[in-house]
Formats: sequence, C-alpha cells, structure tokens
Amino acid sequence: MSEKILVTGANGQIGKVLTAALREKYGRKNVIASDIVKTPADNEPYLFLDILNKTRLYEIVEDHNITQVFHLAAILSANGEWNPLKTWNINLNGLITILELAKEKKLKKVFFPSTIAVFGRTTPRVDTPQAVPLEPETIYGISKVSGELLCNYYHQKYGIDVRSIRYPGIIGYQSIPHGGTTDYAVEIFHSALKGETYECFLAPDTRLPMMYIPDAIRATIELMEAPVENIKTRTSYNLASMSFSPAEIYAEIKKNLPEAQITYQPDFRQEIAASWTESIDDSQARADWGWAPAYDLSAMTKDMIEQIEKLYFQHH
Ligand SMILES: NC(=O)c1ccc[n+]([C@@H]2O[C@H](COP(=O)([O-])OP(=O)(O)OC[C@H]3O[C@@H](n4cnc5c(N)ncnc54)[C@H](O)[C@@H]3O)[C@@H](O)[C@H]2O)c1
Repeated sequence: MSEKILVTGANGQIGKVLTAALREKYGRKNVIASDIVKTPADNEPYLFLDILNKTRLYEIVEDHNITQVFHLAAILSANGEWNPLKTWNINLNGLITILELAKEKKLKKVFFPSTIAVFGRTTPRVDTPQAVPLEPETIYGISKVSGELLCNYYHQKYGIDVRSIRYPGIIGYQSIPHGGTTDYAVEIFHSALKGETYECFLAPDTRLPMMYIPDAIRATIELMEAPVENIKTRTSYNLASMSFSPAEIYAEIKKNLPEAQITYQPDFRQEIAASWTESIDDSQARADWGWAPAYDLSAMTKDMIEQIEKLYFQHH
C-alpha cells in the first residue's frame, strides 16, 4: 500500500517546506497539509484542522486512509511565554491525541519535532551530549521534554513507531518566522537585503545551535526512512550542523553585503536563549541513521542571500 501522509502545522516555517519535499517524494495528492489558517492558495490538498479537534482529526485520517503523520503543530518558545496554559494544551494534548490516534488507527509512523529548547541551565553548554539533564525554563521547553518522554512511552508500551529530532534554530528563506527565539537569524538577512539596519533582539555573543532548512528537511526524511532497527533513540535525537552568535552571522553577512548594519536591543528572548546550549553533539544520529549536514555558516549565508534576492526580484 502506498503511503498517505498528513502534516499538521503545515503552514508554518518548517511545515511549508517539509510538505513540498514530501510531495516531491510521495506525490502531491498523497501528502495532505493541515493547519488552522485559511487555505493557502499554493498548498493543495489542504484541510483546516485544529489539532485539539479530535473528531475532525479521526475523520480526516479515516477518509483519507492516512498511514503516517508528521505532527508539526505547536506554539513556539517566545510566543509560548505569552500564554503558558494554551501552549501546554496545544503542544502536549495535541501530541497525546496524535499518539492515541497512532495506537488506535495503527499508523505506520509518526514524526514529532523536538528542539534545543529542551535544554536548560543544568545541561552542559558545549557539545551537549544526547543524554543530559533536561530542566528547561520555558513552557515550550517543558512541553517538548514531556513530549519526548511520551513518544518514548508510546513506543515502549504500544510499539508505536514514533521518531523525533531535536531541531536547532531553523534558518530558511521561504517565510519569515514568528514566535521563536532564533527568528533573528532569518530577519537579519531580509534587513540586510533591504538596506535597513537590523535591530537584533539577542546580545551579540549569544551562541546557539542553528541549521539551514534544506539540512533540517533532509534529516527529517532520512530519519523517517531509516530501517526501524536503526532507530535506537525513541525520545529525540540531537542534531547539529553549525553554531553561531549574532555577531558571527553579522560578520559573515558583511563579507557578502558590506553595507549591512546591526544594532543590539536584547529583549525577553535573550533570557530564553541564555538558558539553552551553544553546540550539540549529534554523534548518535550520525551513527544510527547516517546523518551528515551539508551547510556550514558560510555556505548557508551565501545561499540565503541568493534565494532572498531571487524572491525580491520576483515580487518587485
Ligand atoms: N523553527 C524552528 O527553529 C524550530 C526549532 C525546533 C523545533 N521546531 C518545531 O518544529 C515544529 C514546526 O515549527 P515551525 O517553525 O514551522 O513553527 P511555526 O510557528 O512556523 O508553525 C507552527 C504551525 O502550527 C500551527 N498551529 C498552531 N496551533 C495549532 C493548532 N491548535 N492546530 C493546528 N495547527 C496549529 C500554526 O498555525 C503554524 O502554522 C514545531 O513543533 C516546533 O516546535 C521548530
């Protein structure tokens, strides 16, 4: 039987790009996008689905014979702090609904994205190993640690094939992200290309693990296609490609766009970033399913500039 995939949160920064990549692979009609925004014109087949609406979710899965769910719907780190209970509800109860669905409807596979926001001040900051203390201070981080544990629980107890990655901050040109703590690393490119001074909401030396979106999408698909016996971590895999600070990415952008300007105005997101770690040891993902990143800071920066220039050229 061919795969029929449902993507939740498909209108988001990662969802848009992942849906397109899955459609390349499995055929457009076999990958259904869903989200709580009105149908985006270029995203068919698309269904409105609030992840908390269990009845609607089950209807969709039955009507379309869904075999896999990529469950991206969530409230992110910075937005989460404005409404902690809503964030817990969507992130945790949304995931439980999906895991129960996987159990009852015998889904073949589920993908759950975790994050570097699971780390906290008790986590080793440099080359953070796979198994470390996880004491995050944001509701988002707390919901994702709990999510990882639930994934492991449903795997151990019910044999659900749920797989997960701890994404670093994701940088992409396809959309302007909102509500995350690493959004600055996308915004800075747009400001530079528009000739505007970028006001950065993190301090210049705040180093964080980051990843260019083509690497993140490829990692997701490679993880999900790896032979089941290779998947040894059922909480969530550490994943890495590059780490940099605002000052470092600014210097790299300046090599390509010498006019680029930055100022620093740290806000509440600085505290969130400071509670995470700087760099990640992803040797387990490399060993278990052959993960290797393609983009470093300089290759990512060049490509981002090229892609955003193309977008501006098309639109104006
Ligand atoms: N972007 C990153 O840097 C990053 C890093 C680590 C992990 N992640 C994880 O990856 C996933 C996707 O992140 P993203 O950056 O694309 O986020 P995003 O905020 O761009 O997209 C999330 C989507 O979920 C949707 N959504 C929110 N509430 C919903 C609900 N009740 N029902 C259905 N949909 C709902 C939103 O409308 C949005 O389109 C999330 O689970 C996030 O935690 C992202």
